[in-house]
Amino acid sequence: KNIVILISGRGSNMQAIVAAAQAQEWPARIAAVISNRADAEGLEFAAQHGIPTAVVVSKNYPSRAEFDTALQTQIEQFSPDLVVLAGFLRILTSEFVQHYAGRMINIHPSLLPNFTGLHTHRQALQAGALEHGATVHVVTAELDHGPILDQARVPVLPDDTEDSLASRVLAQEHILYPRVIRQILDGKLRLQK
Ligand code: GRF
Repeated sequence: KNIVILISGRGSNMQAIVAAAQAQEWPARIAAVISNRADAEGLEFAAQHGIPTAVVVSKNYPSRAEFDTALQTQIEQFSPDLVVLAGFLRILTSEFVQHYAGRMINIHPSLLPNFTGLHTHRQALQAGALEHGATVHVVTAELDHGPILDQARVPVLPDDTEDSLASRVLAQEHILYPRVIRQILDGKLRLQK
């Protein structure tokens, strides 16, 4: 099976997935890491691990549809069975999402359906949430709303800042995301469209 990972920046979730795939000898390979930003830090890690990388720069395309078409063309080079969004900060067109229906997943740093969109840790603190976390879900046309595959929970502590809460959640993301992908590969989790 071929896994294509899309990133926009740091790529720490991608790194956790690559590490798990190697350590656990997954019956799959990370076929490519693709970024919409040339300066995404994660690209270097991927290249160092012998993973093909590609960049499709959004601002080189006049419209979202044209960008998505170029991105899809690039992804298709690697015949993906699973497309993994890992800190990929672009809203995708419904045509693109439809093309990968049932084989594209995302990780969102909140316990969905709570706190969709950006600044989820700030939202959780402002709401006085006692618990927070991350969600892996199937990507559907509506942002952050696809069927939930699994979640990781962390407590919100009284003296938490956005940064302290974010790092507690991120540590769990790095466990959660590889685990979910492994379960998909093993046929233990099925993706609804
Ligand atoms: C993570 O918190 C992820 O949940 C969110 O964006 C962040 C990406 O971090 N979608 P990284 O690029 O994987 O380090």
